[in-house]
Amino acid sequence: MTEFKPLVFSGVQPTGNLHLGNYLGAIRKFVALQENNDCIYCVVDLHALTAQLVHEDMTTQIRSITAAFLAAGIDPKKHIVFNQSQVPQHAELAWIFNCVARIGWMNRMTQFKDKAGKDREQASLGLYAYPSLMAADILVYRATHVPVGEDQKQHLELARDIAMKFNLDFREKIMPTGLGVDITVGEEPVHAYFPMVEPLIDGPAPRVMSLKDGTKKMSKSDPSDLSRINLMDDQEAISKKIRKAKTDPDALPSEAEGLKGRPEADNLVGIFAALADRSKADVLAEFGGQQFSVFKPALIDLAVEVLAPINAEMRRLMEDPAHIDAVLRDGGERARARAEKTMNEVRDIIGFVR
Ligand code: TRP
Repeated sequence: MTEFKPLVFSGVQPTGNLHLGNYLGAIRKFVALQENNDCIYCVVDLHALTAQLVHEDMTTQIRSITAAFLAAGIDPKKHIVFNQSQVPQHAELAWIFNCVARIGWMNRMTQFKDKAGKDREQASLGLYAYPSLMAADILVYRATHVPVGEDQKQHLELARDIAMKFNLDFREKIMPTGLGVDITVGEEPVHAYFPMVEPLIDGPAPRVMSLKDGTKKMSKSDPSDLSRINLMDDQEAISKKIRKAKTDPDALPSEAEGLKGRPEADNLVGIFAALADRSKADVLAEFGGQQFSVFKPALIDLAVEVLAPINAEMRRLMEDPAHIDAVLRDGGERARARAEKTMNEVRDIIGFVR
């Protein structure tokens, strides 16, 4: 083998409601990628325990992310959709990766520092090891491409570091198995069992900001529900939130340059552009010189047009949890078969008796 087979993997945590930022930044990309790639999309329920152990609505949340995947158009027959806890091989490989990763590497993870807050001693061990489990999610399928947000870039670099150290430390054991792939990393030829995963960060995904503060990311943890458009919001809610969205008193500029220093205007134009699959320049060519009293109703129409069908399908699916669970079980079974193949190879490379 001279190349790893391209495979897309990504995960979404079943915590909090999905919002427009998740849709435009992640789920819509997942849908686009399935046209030309083999894809695995995972509801990462084990990760959901890292920040908070007990979730009243864990089951509903898992189903709701799955419903969003399906409603947005992910095909669970051609690809794999499942929840992480159905494939124990993730946790098993994560254990091995815990022994590959160095404490110094984990200490550099900025998301851990953010999420742990001031009292780091009280953070769970799981939160600390989170990036190691994330690396295992991806590498247990030897996936090569991972669509994620900018904030996950450091975790993917760690996944590469873990893969690299595993490849180098076990080089002599990988060679005779014939399971390795000759790749070059920078200039260096490496005989690799695990691929160097590549983030897919670019593309049509804008940074979707809060509707109440154009300098803050749209977030499920923002206490104000008016700050975000949830995928479960109906037409009325969408329209109310856009009507109430913060703006400035000026008319829209005719060029993208004119959005500088106007974060709220920039955000609304960005959302319009993303929903319409157009560039901001193109949107401003149409709306430049217009007041928000004209632009907002157009944005409401567009948002409703794109989101209402997804919303309706999500609601329909949520009324049939048995169907959602069957999709996850089927995906889990297929994922497990692939993951177990990798684990058997990893066990052989390490030298475990089986
Ligand atoms: N950490 C990711 C997030 O919070 C979720 C995640 C877990 C993930 N495992 C993954 C994303 C594997 C991509 C690949 O967004």
